[in-house]
Amino acid sequence: MTKPFIAGNWKMNTDSRSSVSLAEAVAARTTGLAGRQVDVALCPPFVYLGPVFRAVGNSSIAVGAQDVYFQPDGAFTGEVSVSMLKDMGCTYALCGHSERRHVIGESDELVNKKVTAAVSGGLLPILCVGELIEQRKAGRTTEVVTGQVKNGFAGLSAEKALAVTMAYEPVWAIGTGLTATPQQAQEVHALIRELIGRIYDSRLADEIRILYGGSAKPGNAAALMQEQDIDGLLVGGASLKADDFIDIIKAAV
Ligand code: 13P
Repeated sequence: MTKPFIAGNWKMNTDSRSSVSLAEAVAARTTGLAGRQVDVALCPPFVYLGPVFRAVGNSSIAVGAQDVYFQPDGAFTGEVSVSMLKDMGCTYALCGHSERRHVIGESDELVNKKVTAAVSGGLLPILCVGELIEQRKAGRTTEVVTGQVKNGFAGLSAEKALAVTMAYEPVWAIGTGLTATPQQAQEVHALIRELIGRIYDSRLADEIRILYGGSAKPGNAAALMQEQDIDGLLVGGASLKADDFIDIIKAAV
């Protein structure tokens, strides 16, 4: 059985004080649990990575970035490299979050470059995929997710692919209060695992963790986690409240 993984994506929220107090609360109230029974990561905005890394201290809570750029250094105003993130204590980086894809306009090709650069530099990517409501209604979920998964892993060796965590986040469920039912999520998670099995092999497909994201909360976390192919949750809104996020972590074990 893979160890469950709960990651909090704070998006463009918190400030210098609340980021630290939230991280301290999560670290203090999950000792004995985080890192042992469940992996936990916090993904604050770039500017609070350092303070949050210090706030989690020597707890087993990992810190992740919400994005990363693929170039190592140079004239890329506003971007942040893999080595900078590692330098600030990051273990993970989200790649291809739906808001990056659909609000900022990132392509599969750019997402693949980010995933590749992250793995090559020793940062663990969390590759996010998911369909829009129009695509689901048009019966195109399988096609859309298949394309995002194949393009996301393009050119990655099996050894490098093992460093990737997948996240399925149906865009229509993000921040809307509309959660995919456990069955709807499981269906797509099974598809993702099958695709990874076809691209690589079944051992690798079994080992890669696939998180669900989209209005995950204390009330639905346990039911989602019960599904066979749901290995964890990528939590947005509910990760901004220490009580809710801690309840989700507890529900995962
Ligand atoms: P919500 O949990 O706020 O729906 O956000 C999900 C998400 O996008 C996490 O990355």
